[in-house]
Amino acid sequence: MEKIVRRATLLDVDNIYSLIEFYANQGVILKREKQEIEKGIDNFFVAEVDGEFAGAVTFYDYGPSLKEVRSLAVCEKYHGCRVGTMLLKNLVETLKSQGESRIFTLTYKPKFFEKNGFIVVPKEIFPEKIWKDCQNCPDKDSCGETALIYKDH
Ligand SMILES: CC(C)(COP(=O)(O)OP(=O)(O)OC[C@H]1O[C@@H](n2cnc3c(N)ncnc32)[C@H](O)[C@@H]1OP(=O)(O)O)[C@@H](O)C(=O)NCCC(=O)NCCS
Repeated sequence: MEKIVRRATLLDVDNIYSLIEFYANQGVILKREKQEIEKGIDNFFVAEVDGEFAGAVTFYDYGPSLKEVRSLAVCEKYHGCRVGTMLLKNLVETLKSQGESRIFTLTYKPKFFEKNGFIVVPKEIFPEKIWKDCQNCPDKDSCGETALIYKDH
């Protein structure tokens, strides 16, 4: 099994869109419109297993010292094969090598992130502008997501 992570191109948009939609329909990640993915394609990374699309991840840029890991998703077929770990590690390393000081995420899967060097923090430590995605969410007053930040070791 040969696994790689590479930067996404516009040719990956359909695969990324379908994968995110699959999990968004289960309520585990936020839905993204195709146009939004196209516009932000330079921030996406894609995983391939033996040349086949296996997962993706992106980040949102809040400025030079704060980035958010977003839309991390692995095709069900490849769950448990460390594809998620590879995507997350690659993203963290890329951002850290560019000098990013804080990398955070909001997720329903805190255990997975804890296994990859993130620690749970109170959501309140982040500025309110971060909650722009939350404004239209029906669960905004009873959000079950956990905030985690990457901790250098
Ligand atoms: C969460 C997700 C990205 C994990 O990807 P994956 O490739 O299956 O995970 P890995 O094989 O890299 O797992 C690494 C470790 O995390 C653990 N892990 C994976 N998913 C987990 C979960 N949902 N809860 C708890 N632990 C989990 C694995 O058991 C493994 O543990 P180990 O090191 O003790 O063996 C994948 O399950 C997924 O796409 N889920 C749906 C979308 C989603 O929920 N994304 C969350 C981020 S916003």
